[in-house]
Amino acid sequence: QYYKEPYRPQFHYTPEKNWMNDPNGLVYHRGKYHLFYQYNPGSHTWGNMSWGHAVSTDLTRWTQLPDPLGLRAAGFESGNVTEAFFSGGAISDPDNTSGFGIDEYGPLVAIFTLFYPQDLTHANGQLVRAGTQAQGIAYSNDDGLTWTQYEGNPVIPSPPSEYADQYADFRDPAVFWHAASKNWVMVVALSVLHKLLIYTSPDLKKWTQVSEFGPVNAVGGKWECPNLFPLPVAGDARRLKWVMIISLDPGGPAVGSGTQYVVGSFDGKTFTADAESIRETPIPDQTSSLDSAVTTYTQTANWMDHGPDFYAPISWTGVPNYGRVAIAWMSNWDYARDIPTSPWRGAMSVPRVLELRTIGGALRLVQRPVDGFEALVQPTPLYANAWGTVEEGRVALDVSGKALDVRMSFRAAGSTGVFGVALRAREGQETVVGYEFATERMYVDRRKSGSAVVTKAFPGVYHAPLAAGDDGRVRIRVLLDWSSVEVLGGLGESTITAQIFPDDEGTGITMFSTGVAEQVEVEVRSVDSAW
Ligand code: FRU
Repeated sequence: QYYKEPYRPQFHYTPEKNWMNDPNGLVYHRGKYHLFYQYNPGSHTWGNMSWGHAVSTDLTRWTQLPDPLGLRAAGFESGNVTEAFFSGGAISDPDNTSGFGIDEYGPLVAIFTLFYPQDLTHANGQLVRAGTQAQGIAYSNDDGLTWTQYEGNPVIPSPPSEYADQYADFRDPAVFWHAASKNWVMVVALSVLHKLLIYTSPDLKKWTQVSEFGPVNAVGGKWECPNLFPLPVAGDARRLKWVMIISLDPGGPAVGSGTQYVVGSFDGKTFTADAESIRETPIPDQTSSLDSAVTTYTQTANWMDHGPDFYAPISWTGVPNYGRVAIAWMSNWDYARDIPTSPWRGAMSVPRVLELRTIGGALRLVQRPVDGFEALVQPTPLYANAWGTVEEGRVALDVSGKALDVRMSFRAAGSTGVFGVALRAREGQETVVGYEFATERMYVDRRKSGSAVVTKAFPGVYHAPLAAGDDGRVRIRVLLDWSSVEVLGGLGESTITAQIFPDDEGTGITMFSTGVAEQVEVEVRSVDSAW
């Protein structure tokens, strides 16, 4: 299958047609990575929420499978949805703790939020109020093609009694096996209260609430799609920390939706944030020499990504050796419904390998593309050049393209002003990726990124802190696809992800400086299509 409609991502997952939002049910099972996602089987706008399904062996070349049976909104065919499947996770249950298994591999079990748009009485007699979000499970013994809902659903019908009034904002369970306590652990959001509840279960059916976490750090919008996992500190295999990812909408670092993380410890019941991961005092906005009117950066959180289009990331369960890979929905609720793509709407980020590293005295999440993506990058550069100094001005580089891996590096000391490249450039159109030496920040400017002006919320400039590496050089890598940039700074401790909608004719690359940039290197490689 080869997709080539306007804006169709070439190395980011998209469904053939229809609407997609959050990644769901990420599980590695019997040699395959499963990617489920929020999906509308009927159209390319949000609604009829069901799960879609794709599989891959390298997290990069995906095969979309038929819509999974049993995870489709009830009543979709008749146009009167009575039960929808919101976001959640999936696990492989090799020891058959759930009793749902029929062979030596054990079942796949999906754990999701059941959303009830109207009052309903379940077959088992449970009454449900309109607007309710409850947690349910389903199992599959055929690698996720067909699912059976557990007859005891919902397994968590409502929040604990002290939060009973939050029944309509109780969602997005993430479940994993905690070997030390021999329990399944669930993290689920009380979205409006900025709280995460932790439950445990021996069998995925009976759940006991054991703790809560939050609010901390960014609370500018509803908390959604939490994800909790262990992560070793790079270079120190004995030091195991825990990371809590929390999406929030609005209140992100750019506009609308965004994702923060908190580093801490977990004892099987309680997640405790490290003191250094808590940010009590917002650092005031730094004034940008570019355009202070569009600079909204405030470090009230540890942002997982500083751009507008990296939301609801969760990680694969069941990956051996603490391997931890996350993928995000590459969009933003502020304008997701308006992006100019058809017959699909919504794309995933490149899957990112996660690590913890000590950078600038603190433990930071660092991210790099999975090996499967690296295999799409042509080893020999299309273009490579080096300059002792780049003076003020603009130079068109002798290279062009729509799906590229662009790497630039330069010395911080002695450099001044702003240095960068304009991608997908033509007269009047460009997506700028640059670095501001005085404030030590990289940025993406998509104010002129295409003729398709999505909405008022879409154009903008997004900054992320980025210091030079130990060798005094600043490193920025851009994964450019037909309708997005993913920018990775340094070792991957800072990232900016943004959608763009340029004209097809805009393929040029221009290097620019507003001051002096020292010891510059630029390399451009083509990236093969994953289809
Ligand atoms: C996040 C979210 C989730 C919810 C799902 C519904 O983007 O709002 O909280 O489960 O999308 O599609």
